[in-house]
Amino acid sequence: MTSEEFQSHIWDKAKVHYRSMPWREDVRPYYVLVSELMLQQTQVDRVVPKFLAFIRAFPDEHILASASLAEVLTHWSGLGYNRRAKFLHDAAKKIVSEYGGVFPDDEQALLSLPGVGKNTKGAILAYAFNQPAIFVETNVRTVYFHHFFTDGEQVNDKQIEELLEKTIDDEHPREFYWALMDYGTYLKKQGAGKIQQSRHYKKQPALKGSVREIRGQILKHLTGGDIREADMKQRVVYDERFDLALKGLLKDGLVMRQDDMLHLTK
Ligand code: ADE
Repeated sequence: MTSEEFQSHIWDKAKVHYRSMPWREDVRPYYVLVSELMLQQTQVDRVVPKFLAFIRAFPDEHILASASLAEVLTHWSGLGYNRRAKFLHDAAKKIVSEYGGVFPDDEQALLSLPGVGKNTKGAILAYAFNQPAIFVETNVRTVYFHHFFTDGEQVNDKQIEELLEKTIDDEHPREFYWALMDYGTYLKKQGAGKIQQSRHYKKQPALKGSVREIRGQILKHLTGGDIREADMKQRVVYDERFDLALKGLLKDGLVMRQDDMLHLTK
């Protein structure tokens, strides 16, 4: 299949499978950043209402930057992986303090934002700035596996990146990636393009019974105010997971300990 044939196939699929999403109808970079961080671990249907409530509460980088971590976490609740909420909050602060409130559009500046790695940087460049950046995520993998690799073949992201370079529509990168997302989601529903073939595929671990679950419980209590560590142990499931959860929260800078009091980072 030539690049032209592949592109025209993708555009045909885009017409059928296009999904409207608030961060597609309005592609301002702040919306793209918020949505991409939410979408890193959570599916579109669950993200849409959370996204809308989030931007209602924090309509732009400035308002987000001046909010408290407790407020941000409250609006993040239900999405899990709370570290991302702090990343987003810190990214907004950085855009305001270091970039004069202007959302950066160059690679290095984007990578300097907390929570923005190689792929999220690429997504922001493509979706917000319509640049033909190369990035690989699960839907992209699904589409390229389906068209360019045989069943069961182990594939790494470098191979996908090389194919993307050859086949991306340089003139319409934003819409091209939207099309890959929608078509990839469709293929997954059909059971095609097995992402387990990816050398980078990691199954999301179960929340129930995990350290992550206890992290969420601790944060939820702290959004209501400071709590003595001994009292916190009474409120959440207390076993060996508690110490790991608290240690992680302290390390990630979400929680601070002063004497025996726990509080959210101010
Ligand atoms: N549209 C823009 N970003 C997206 C994503 N990460 N997943 C699905 N659709 C999207």
